[in-house]
Amino acid sequence: MFNARNQGLCYAVIRNINYSASMDLEGKDALSVIIVGASGDLARKKLLPALFSLYSQGFMPDRFHVFGFARSAMSHEEFRARVGEHLTCRYVPEHDCERKMAEFLSRCHYVQGSYDSPDSFMDLYQTMKPLELGRAHRLYYLAIPPSIFVDVARAMGRAGLVTCTPGKTWSRVIIEKPFGSDRESSDRMAHELAQAFPERDIYRIDHYLGKEIIQNLLVLRFANTIFEPLWNGRCIEQVQITWKENIGIGSRAGYFDEYGIIRDVIQNHMMQILSLVAMERPATLNAQAIRDAKLDVLKHIPPLRLEDLVVGQYRRNGKNPSYNEEDGVPRDSVTPSYAAMALRVDHARWQGVPFLIRAGKGLNARCNEIRIRFRPATSNLFSGALSSLPANQLVIRVQPDEAVALKVVSKVPGLKLTLAETELDLRYATAFNVVIPEAYEGLILDAIRGEKSLFIRSDELAAAWDIFTPVLHELEQRRIKPEPYDFGSEGPAAAGDLAARHGVEWL
Ligand SMILES: NC(=O)c1ccc[n+]([C@@H]2O[C@H](COP(=O)([O-])OP(=O)(O)OC[C@H]3O[C@@H](n4cnc5c(N)ncnc54)[C@H](OP(=O)(O)O)[C@@H]3O)[C@@H](O)[C@H]2O)c1
Repeated sequence: MFNARNQGLCYAVIRNINYSASMDLEGKDALSVIIVGASGDLARKKLLPALFSLYSQGFMPDRFHVFGFARSAMSHEEFRARVGEHLTCRYVPEHDCERKMAEFLSRCHYVQGSYDSPDSFMDLYQTMKPLELGRAHRLYYLAIPPSIFVDVARAMGRAGLVTCTPGKTWSRVIIEKPFGSDRESSDRMAHELAQAFPERDIYRIDHYLGKEIIQNLLVLRFANTIFEPLWNGRCIEQVQITWKENIGIGSRAGYFDEYGIIRDVIQNHMMQILSLVAMERPATLNAQAIRDAKLDVLKHIPPLRLEDLVVGQYRRNGKNPSYNEEDGVPRDSVTPSYAAMALRVDHARWQGVPFLIRAGKGLNARCNEIRIRFRPATSNLFSGALSSLPANQLVIRVQPDEAVALKVVSKVPGLKLTLAETELDLRYATAFNVVIPEAYEGLILDAIRGEKSLFIRSDELAAAWDIFTPVLHELEQRRIKPEPYDFGSEGPAAAGDLAARHGVEWL
């Protein structure tokens, strides 16, 4: 196993350099973080704990306040009690934890209102204003269903809440997928949001990009000399990206059945991962250079064809119900809970390399990983010991435990020449002596600092929709039935045939 303990500090230094390059918040400024939809799960379980982590590490200015906004009736005290339930002291010594939490909670406030009412946002303004004296910046997080983003943005605009003085104060908004359901609806949403917030101030979050291992992709590729010379179709045989869940859709039927697996995770998370794997070396680490390089990949992926796609839907297995027996799902639903596909990146670097993507719910494991399989050795000096040499494989595991492994052939110790496939294995949990930040911590901090490289630009979003919109429309117009697969299995058998048609097999 690699020993990377001493490298944690160096890595932190790189992040800090990156952040400070675009920092525009001074210590004496006020910062208001407004969570619209503060009564929801995302706010309570992820966003407020992330804000507390940032606060407890000293990242927030002295005049920092959090304002929760939603329709549910709640007093400030009730809101604080709900927030307190999910806070954990990951960065504070235990003896100081209670005091730090109490300090943070005293900075949390709640305003009840309607999402489409300028008056409600005026109430929010009246609550914020006395605490914001002097130069104040505002970060809005829309933790609400996207169907009401535009109403909220309009009402905020009418209430005069979206103000900024260029170079002095800013108002930024973070929004989270799904951004539309195809190219047209995504463009419409972008256009309507742009009436309230300029693109410069819109931060489209993809929490996968906040994961440490995903950020490590760039470092792995461009800070090490050993990978880049091999990172092309001459040496790489195939790239596979897998996202599996071993549970069904649970209580998310209303949302999921409308979107399906391609819109839920492939068009966004998996395309972002693919673009980081396939992109050219960016000229610099700034947001524009990185996002230009990712966009270039997305633009070179031809629209997915139906013959390169397999869709599936889980069916009853023992106590686990079929997809269309789940509460809230129509019995004749043809929404895929699984999809496997082969994409191409039409780029000299990637000639002849299939990019196989698969994602599904109700499968046999919970895992998200990237596998890059190199071409097998053409001549085998060791044919006496092993008739064919296994190909090298680089595995980057995002979930459940972050890890990077390189599969290599090694000699088994002993007096005979015996070869075996072995792994050089870097596991984050044991290799680095640091607390691994939650994805939302880094992303919220980046938004506060105006650092956009991990947020999705509108042209990236449009390019990702262009890959999937035609096939999504075809699936829906023809009501193509997904292939059933048993809950808890590998997924539909046709996925294996798809890989075989592209000359490979699932790893
Ligand atoms: N949870 C996650 O991990 C996750 C992951 C990816 C993306 N997201 C995105 O983040 C958003 C928030 O996530 P969440 O899990 O917190 O969602 P949620 O609990 O369903 O909704 C958040 C709040 O929005 C309000 N709301 C819900 N449905 C509404 C409707 N139809 N019309 C008006 N208001 C409604 C509710 O507050 P009031 O009734 O009090 O107003 C609710 O507490 C999601 O919509 C999704 O787009 C979440």
